[in-house]
Amino acid sequence: MQTFICCFLWITVLTLSYVKSISSNNKILSISDGVSFGFCGGYCSQSINITSSSNQVVALKKPNFPQDGYPPVKRIYGFCRKKWDKLINLIDDKRFQSLNDRIGCPDCADGGAEWIEIQWTDQTKRVTFENGESIEGFEGLVVALRNIRVNTTQNL
Ligand SMILES: *[C@@H]1O[C@H](CO)[C@@H](O)[C@H](O)[C@H]1NC(C)=O
Ligand SMILES: *[C@@H]1O[C@H](CO)[C@@H](O)[C@H](O)[C@H]1NC(C)=O
Repeated sequence: MQTFICCFLWITVLTLSYVKSISSNNKILSISDGVSFGFCGGYCSQSINITSSSNQVVALKKPNFPQDGYPPVKRIYGFCRKKWDKLINLIDDKRFQSLNDRIGCPDCADGGAEWIEIQWTDQTKRVTFENGESIEGFEGLVVALRNIRVNTTQNL
């Protein structure tokens, strides 16, 4: 009987730690990147949003406020699993989550603000920095996302 109880407890503990490890496996759902300019007419903001569930990247350009002749323009491209995995490899979750929300003085001298937003299962974090600059420790990610954004928005 004692052996049985002991075994039962042991299995319970194992099960609980297994469930815990699954729920703390905090997955990335989407990665977005954009740039915007404050004092600016016309299309002043470009962004991309890559989602893991749909294997696609949504490219968007829009004005800062509704303006005649500048309707928001959106286009969707495929984004294969291999590219997604490469991107994910550039992200240290804990480190990104601990960054300041603002780095430097984005758009202060009308130079534009660039941002990266990562959405996990249980939280979202956006970091805004000076356009053309980088985020220390995430240089590879900044460049990769910037390239995808420029590629997908320049002909919108
Ligand atoms: C990107 O898309 C996901 C899924 O539709 C959405 O939940 C998320 O808010 C979007 N991110 C941005 C920055 O728009
Ligand atoms: C950008 O587009 C060029 C030309 O189509 C392509 O060779 C390159 O792989 C693209 N880069 C990214 C990051 O999508």
